[in-house]
Amino acid sequence: MVPVHAACALLSFVPLLVLGVPPIWTQPEQVHLSYPGVPGSMAVTWTTFNKTESKVEYGLLGGRLFEMSAKGGTTLFVDSGEEKRELYIHRVTLTGLKPAATYVYHCGSDEGWSDVFLFTALNDSTSFSPRFALYGDLGNENPQSLARLQKETQLGMYDVILHIGDFAYDMDEDNARIGDEFMRQIQSIAAYVPYMTCPGNHEATYNFSNYRNRFSMPGQTESLWYSWNLGSAHIISISTEVYFYLEFGLDLLFKQYEWLTKDLEEANKPENRAVRPWIITMGHRPMYCSDDDQDDCTKFDSYVRLGRNDTKPPAPGLEDLFYRYGVDLELWAHEHTYERLWPVYGDKVYNGSKDQPYVNPKAPVHIITGSAGCRERTDRFNPNPKDWSAFRSTDYGYTRMQLVNATHLYLEQVSDDQYGKVIDSIWVVKDKHGFSAWF
Ligand SMILES: [Fe+2]
Repeated sequence: MVPVHAACALLSFVPLLVLGVPPIWTQPEQVHLSYPGVPGSMAVTWTTFNKTESKVEYGLLGGRLFEMSAKGGTTLFVDSGEEKRELYIHRVTLTGLKPAATYVYHCGSDEGWSDVFLFTALNDSTSFSPRFALYGDLGNENPQSLARLQKETQLGMYDVILHIGDFAYDMDEDNARIGDEFMRQIQSIAAYVPYMTCPGNHEATYNFSNYRNRFSMPGQTESLWYSWNLGSAHIISISTEVYFYLEFGLDLLFKQYEWLTKDLEEANKPENRAVRPWIITMGHRPMYCSDDDQDDCTKFDSYVRLGRNDTKPPAPGLEDLFYRYGVDLELWAHEHTYERLWPVYGDKVYNGSKDQPYVNPKAPVHIITGSAGCRERTDRFNPNPKDWSAFRSTDYGYTRMQLVNATHLYLEQVSDDQYGKVIDSIWVVKDKHGFSAWF
C-alpha cells in the first residue's frame, strides 16, 4: 500500500503531467544580418522565446575569437494569433567594422550562445562591385531554390541578398510558427550576408506585424520603406502594399510617396549622383507583367504604376516619379515567374538602339523575379505578351546581379529546375544616368 504522504506527493505532480511543462527557451535562433546603411556597421537580429540579454561577441577572422562585444536591445513581439505567442526579438548593431574584413561572431547571452557564423563587412568604397542574389516569393513549403541559395551563399558567391517580399507563406500562420521555421530555414543564408527585404502581400496579416518585428532594415519605418548605398548604387526599397491595404492607413501611401520624392531628389543632387550613379528600386508588386492571373500588373491602369483615383485625395503612382528621377533599374516579384522587360515607360518600349537595347536605354529597365519557390507553385503566362516583354520563364529560380562599376551592371537568371543553368542574361550599360539620359 502507498503511504498517504507519498500518494499526496504523487498527486501534486498530476496537473504537471497533464498540462506539460513548456521548455526553457533561451537558446538563440533565427539569426540574420542586415546592413543598417552606415559604412562599417552590421545589424544582427535573432529570436529567443524566453527573455534574455542581447549580446554579440565577435572578432576578425584569424584574430582572437570574440575579443570584441556589443550589446543591443530586446523587443517583445506578441503574435496576434489565438495563442498570443511571445517572441523576444534581439537586435545588436556592430559599428566600427573594417570594410571588406571578415568577422567571426556568435550572438546570445550568458544563458546561451548561437553557433559561430562569419560575415564580411561591406566595402564602403564606391568602386566596390557588389554581387547580389535577388528573388521574391520564397516560402516554408516548396522552397525550391533555397538549398542552391544556401550553398552558393556559403561558397561566398554573394555580398548581399535582396528578398523582394512574400516570405514563408505566411509568417503569421500556425500562431507564427511558420514564420519561426522560415527564419530558421534562411539562417544558412542570412547569418552570413545581409538579408535586405521589402514587404509583400503575404505579410499583411495583423498589419504586417510579423514582418515589422522580425526584420531590421535601415531607417525608422519598421522596415517598410528605406534606402541605402552600396558601391556605385543608391538602392531604394518600398512597400507596394500601401496601394492595396488601405485599411492600415491611406496616410502610409502618401507618407511613402513624400519620402520617396525627397529621397530621389537627394540622390539626384549632382554631387550625389556623380558618386552613386545607379538608382535601383525594389518593391513587391510590379507595374508591368504578362502573367494571366489578373493581378495589378496585368491591368493597364495598375495602381502601382498609375496610382488610385478612388481615394481622397487621389493617390499618385510610381512610374512617373521613377522616370522623372531617372531610376535605372526596377526590381519586382509577386508574379511567380521570371520576366525581363525592354526599357519601358508609359506602356511603350524605349530601347537604347535596335541592336543594343540595354546600352543607354531611354527608360527604366524592369525585372520581375518571383519564382524562388513557395506552396502556390509557379504562375502561367498570357500567350500574347505586349511589346515590352523581352524574356519569360516559368522555371523556379532566382536572379544574380553584379553592379560592376558606374557604367556597367550585369543581370542573370538561374533556373533551379535546370540544375542551376543560367537561362537569361543582360548587361545594362549607361554612359549617363538621370532624367537627361532618356533623351
Ligand atoms: Fe505577392
